[in-house]
Amino acid sequence: MNKIKIAIQKSGRLNVDSLQILKDCGISIDNGKDQLKASSRNFPLEVFYLRNGDIPQYLRDGVVDIAIIGENVLIEKGNDISIVEKLGFSKCKVSLAIPKSANYNSVKDFQGKRIATSYPNTVDNYLSSKGVKADLHIITGSVEIAPNIGLADAICDIVSSGSTLFKNNLKEVEVMLTSEAVLAVSPKISPESTLLLDKLHFRIKSVLLARK
Ligand code: PRP
Ligand code: MG
Repeated sequence: MNKIKIAIQKSGRLNVDSLQILKDCGISIDNGKDQLKASSRNFPLEVFYLRNGDIPQYLRDGVVDIAIIGENVLIEKGNDISIVEKLGFSKCKVSLAIPKSANYNSVKDFQGKRIATSYPNTVDNYLSSKGVKADLHIITGSVEIAPNIGLADAICDIVSSGSTLFKNNLKEVEVMLTSEAVLAVSPKISPESTLLLDKLHFRIKSVLLARK
């Protein structure tokens, strides 16, 4: 029997809420710890636990049919991938921040500045649209430490509660975009899997309605 393949975040903030929404849809997943793949007992579905940043490529290649992923990741790496439904959880912003003690007038202040980020395309698009050119340093994690160690003048990263910025003596000065978890679909999904997606989507919509 055909099974629909869904990617969800392996570990991190989306993981728990992604599994919860499947559970609320009545889909039980046999979750062996440290397993990268799991199946459902009561819905023709296979779960692949992947790293966030890899998911857009897996969707593009049709390795997975659908994914629960942060919209911010799609905007950075997968703006060719379609969104089926916004899921209402894991809300965050992608923002530019500078040291608390620094002055700030406008986005023009970023001209020629060194910005550490894991979201180079997002920053580049945003600043270009404002006619600003900065010097981007791409790092994959713990971005907020960069100004403290002299690696950058500013950072661009996800802001959720704001506590990481606060702990690192940074202040948010520009919100580039807001994001939440979404259900995304591969451009290569088969007709058989599309039928399963329709079933799942119907259940998800009911769950979202009940959560309101
Ligand atoms: C994310 C993000 C920010 C932080 C924002 O990092 O990169 O650093 O969360 O959340 P907050 O506003 O609630 O503090 P995460 O802890 O997921 O780890 P990583 O940066 O190493 O991937
Ligand atoms: Mg972080």
